[in-house]
Amino acid sequence: MDSLTARIQSDPSLRTGCNPRQRAAFLDAYPGYARTRSLDSVRAAEYPYLDASGQVYLDYTGAGLPALSQLDAHTARLRGGCFGNPHSENPASAASTALIDRARGAVLGHLNASPDEYAVIFTQNASSACRLVGEAYAFGPGGRFVLTSDNHNSVNGIREFARARGARTEYIPLRPADLRADDESVRRVLSPDGAERPRPGLFAFPAQSNFSGVQHPLRWIDLAHERGYDVLLDAAAYLPANRLDLSQVHPDFVPVSWYKVFGYPTGVGCLVARREALARLQRPWFAGGTIAVASVLGDWHTLADDEAGFEDGTPSFQHIPDVEYGLSWVRQLNLDVIHERVTCLTGWLLRRLLAARHGNGAPLVRVHGPRDTAGRGGTVAFSVLAPDGRLADARAVAREAAIAGISIRTGCFCNPGAAEAAFGLTRSDVVEAAQLGAISEDAYQAATGIPGGALRASVGPVSSIDDVEALVTLIETTFGDRPADEDGPLHRLEYRSLVPA
Ligand SMILES: Cc1ncc(COP(=O)(O)O)c(C=O)c1O
Repeated sequence: MDSLTARIQSDPSLRTGCNPRQRAAFLDAYPGYARTRSLDSVRAAEYPYLDASGQVYLDYTGAGLPALSQLDAHTARLRGGCFGNPHSENPASAASTALIDRARGAVLGHLNASPDEYAVIFTQNASSACRLVGEAYAFGPGGRFVLTSDNHNSVNGIREFARARGARTEYIPLRPADLRADDESVRRVLSPDGAERPRPGLFAFPAQSNFSGVQHPLRWIDLAHERGYDVLLDAAAYLPANRLDLSQVHPDFVPVSWYKVFGYPTGVGCLVARREALARLQRPWFAGGTIAVASVLGDWHTLADDEAGFEDGTPSFQHIPDVEYGLSWVRQLNLDVIHERVTCLTGWLLRRLLAARHGNGAPLVRVHGPRDTAGRGGTVAFSVLAPDGRLADARAVAREAAIAGISIRTGCFCNPGAAEAAFGLTRSDVVEAAQLGAISEDAYQAATGIPGGALRASVGPVSSIDDVEALVTLIETTFGDRPADEDGPLHRLEYRSLVPA
């Protein structure tokens, strides 16, 4: 009897859920997981809908999940007080303003940010935070918008504001092998002529990629500041399982979506902004709530100071206070414990996907991006391969997963630059696809030879080894030895393999 079999026989807890051998091997490989056991009881008590509905939820980069306590706190608050539209002095209004201000304080506390240095602007989501910056940033001829190829479209879209005002947009390329950018490329694109002198511009990158899970180095913030850039650090995918300490790093603009961190409420995000950088933004319009005073007869207005000048219209005053509770919930779970769990499960998911094989010994899965847990978060992008090495249609994989009750994602996840690098596409491939009239996502993917795009699984605070094993087992049993052409028409181009299998 091998030692694993002996352990399984002596420990009944190994015989629940997934294959006991895999469970035992996982616990041996990731002893830190045992320190996150408290999250198993939290899952049972606070997220009962997961197991009651047989859900295998692996889309935490899409959205976090709400705990019952959060919902209770929301209804208790609404039952216990009268909260009115904030922009007034009446008691119901003042009650809302007080809770919104407490939520601002909680955000600053969570990020260890000084209220003297940073302002918290409540927005609808991270995308609207990006838009606030893009539409008001002082782009102009001679100015630059520099960003990593790895960015969510809500950051890519800022280039349209830059272009409209005559600034140049430049992308920092990714290494196809690990979907990271090196410091040298960052330096080169920030200072194309080697000049260290300040030049006007905005530099944007995600603290964590929503495609590959890569965590880009926060040292780039200082690198860019030294070269005269303002820095937008997209923290939307990073915050759910990582600490961002704004007393240690000082990005100018930090967009966030809170539902990604704690699931509820949706429709509340933030732009956390350095007050000094915020004061340099020039808003292209004003709205209810944003002005100190406006005149119709005089045709003038003055914007309210700081946060208020950026919060258009009535804020989501029945939901913004939930952010305070959501952050206290994360504190209760302990962000370090969440981080540990996410790291252990990510490591196991990577290991299992990379080890999966067809009967002929060929790899069953290609992971896009880093293959271990160093410098990455809990988001794993991958493709399923046929025995001959061609790509399986990601939509077929997602369909099988959905039938099995597994929530994963397909496509490019609103991050076309990372997807292009992952699949080794060249500029001429995408130009050719556009010339072929491939303007829908399906047509584009067919023309570029990446049917359905990639697959993405992401783990969160109450993910378990059973969740991860459910996905790997589905892939092994459903796609092992399955020929590519069972999934429909063959794609036009061969998959370009830039990464050794
Ligand atoms: C890294 C990143 N940035 C920005 C966004 C946009 O967030 P939202 O859709 O909530 O505005 C997302 C959403 O997935 C994201 O992952």
